[in-house]
Amino acid sequence: MTVGDQAQHLREYVRRHHQRARVLAVTSGKGGVGKTGISVNLAIALAARGQRVVVLDADLGLANVEVLLGLNSLYNLQHVVEGGKELVDILVEGPGGIKVIPGSSGLAKIADLGAGERANLLDGLRQLQEITDFIIIDTMAGIGQNAISFASAADEVLVVSTPEPSSIVDAYAVIKTLYQKREDAVMSLVVNMAANKEQALAVSKKLTTVTQKYLGRNLSYHGYVPRDPHVMQAVMQTYPFVLRYPSAAASKSVQELATRLVQQEAPMRDERVSFFRRFAQTLGLASSA
Ligand SMILES: Nc1ncnc2c1ncn2[C@@H]1O[C@H](COP(=O)(O)OP(=O)(O)O)[C@@H](O)[C@H]1O
Ligand SMILES: [Mg+2]
Repeated sequence: MTVGDQAQHLREYVRRHHQRARVLAVTSGKGGVGKTGISVNLAIALAARGQRVVVLDADLGLANVEVLLGLNSLYNLQHVVEGGKELVDILVEGPGGIKVIPGSSGLAKIADLGAGERANLLDGLRQLQEITDFIIIDTMAGIGQNAISFASAADEVLVVSTPEPSSIVDAYAVIKTLYQKREDAVMSLVVNMAANKEQALAVSKKLTTVTQKYLGRNLSYHGYVPRDPHVMQAVMQTYPFVLRYPSAAASKSVQELATRLVQQEAPMRDERVSFFRRFAQTLGLASSA
């Protein structure tokens, strides 16, 4: 075994034994760009790679994770916040081996939660981090407090933009806000509904150029998902496209995004401040997580 192998081995060991979940927020400037679809399908693709994945529905709009998956749950995050339920009690089994935490419109104003309610939310999330590999947070669009709270606390953020100019401009606003909120934010771009690879690359070039020029920051390009009629067909069937149409172009792209995520080395856990400490700080609570 070479020294490099040993180091790799050690990292793997630490990952398996100390690993708290990698928290990935999926966000965007505009709504309707494919955040929920990407969150859910990426989660399933990660689960197919042996990861334990939970999707947290923090987008409190109508087209939510449960609707997309045809789930109908009795309980949601509100019950955890109010203290009646533990977070593990409200986890719903989704397709493809993923679990879902149903959101609640009652959480639309995280800032308005009382101290006890915030603590309940944090305790639940902290427990969850111990029993999963990935927590994928489907956030609201835009630079509202709710979206920014989740995204700025996450370990990494996938910013979704379509090739539409308004989507690109709004994605930039999110990138700017997140970097202002958190200097060491780790963000990468996914271009959705691209006509082809070249168009996606052109979008990426625009965003990386302005991010570099005006913010002095790098924005990495994580990949793209093509515009594909199978996505809408799957939505109509309330079933994820990666499962229903595994050989569709969109599914293949999402599989590639998942492979890239798993291959990317997550920063070593012990060197990182946990999502929950940062999230608690955002909520104005002290946390020892
Ligand atoms: N790659 C794609 N190709 C074609 N249509 C897509 C694609 N991604 C998303 N859509 C369409 O856009 C709609 C909105 O997607 P959704 O994931 O709900 O967006 P968001 O969560 O950002 O609001 C979906 O119902 C689907 O019909
Ligand atoms: Mg959505």
